[in-house]
Amino acid sequence: MAARTPIVGGNWKMHLDRAGARDLLRELRDELGGIEGVEVVICPPAPWLGDAADALEGTSLQVGAQNAYWLPHGAYTGEVGAAMLIGTARYILVGHSERRHLFGETNEETGRKLAAVLELGLEPILAIGELQAEREAGTTREVLREQLAAAFADVERLPEGFVVAYEPVWAIGTGLTATPEIAQSTIADVRAMVADRYGEVTAEACRIQYGGSVNAGNVTELAAQPDIDGALVGGASLDASAFATICRAVAAAAEGAA
Ligand code: 13P
Repeated sequence: MAARTPIVGGNWKMHLDRAGARDLLRELRDELGGIEGVEVVICPPAPWLGDAADALEGTSLQVGAQNAYWLPHGAYTGEVGAAMLIGTARYILVGHSERRHLFGETNEETGRKLAAVLELGLEPILAIGELQAEREAGTTREVLREQLAAAFADVERLPEGFVVAYEPVWAIGTGLTATPEIAQSTIADVRAMVADRYGEVTAEACRIQYGGSVNAGNVTELAAQPDIDGALVGGASLDASAFATICRAVAAAAEGAA
């Protein structure tokens, strides 16, 4: 199997005022600035992206945006064009479940965002995941397949190391983490779906994170699964030391598997 560099994202969601964000950025820089063996992406709220870029400059930590619009500019009050993030953010979260379910983002809109981000040469993190009712109804595979098909509609090829975040909606912010077995088998399914669309080589190089109530206590077992290439972390990413523990555990798991 191709060695994949694991990737951990810290999605701060809509938390922290500017002073709190700057404090956390400083702590992250101190704790994780030189980390190796794992890529780390910090996704603060949009107003603090510039602060993040300044604070993390010269470290191995990357800046990510939580969302972006596909058009570069225009009369789109309240939107931030993906093109505007060039030079500030390297990664952009696309299709997070809160965008989909709280703000009505459709599979097709997610596809337009993904295509735009890739065209700009930025790195998307494509988030997909099923609702609890869909898991219970046994339709998880169909839901994920549909989300991926729409996201990939206008994407001819994926760059090496493309990132997908599998986040079961029922595990987000609930404390209900998917078991390592559920996370592993679903992520293996997702990898097979990527292979169906883009071939085995691309799928093997694709990095697939697990997200949903990841914390310092459960990350080691999740990261030990062969198809899980890191984590997308919400709540625990607001605590520098918990987040650092998660990043180190992911790096250690990858080193152990190498
Ligand atoms: P929690 O880690 O708070 O469950 O959030 C997961 C998530 O949505 C990350 O994008």
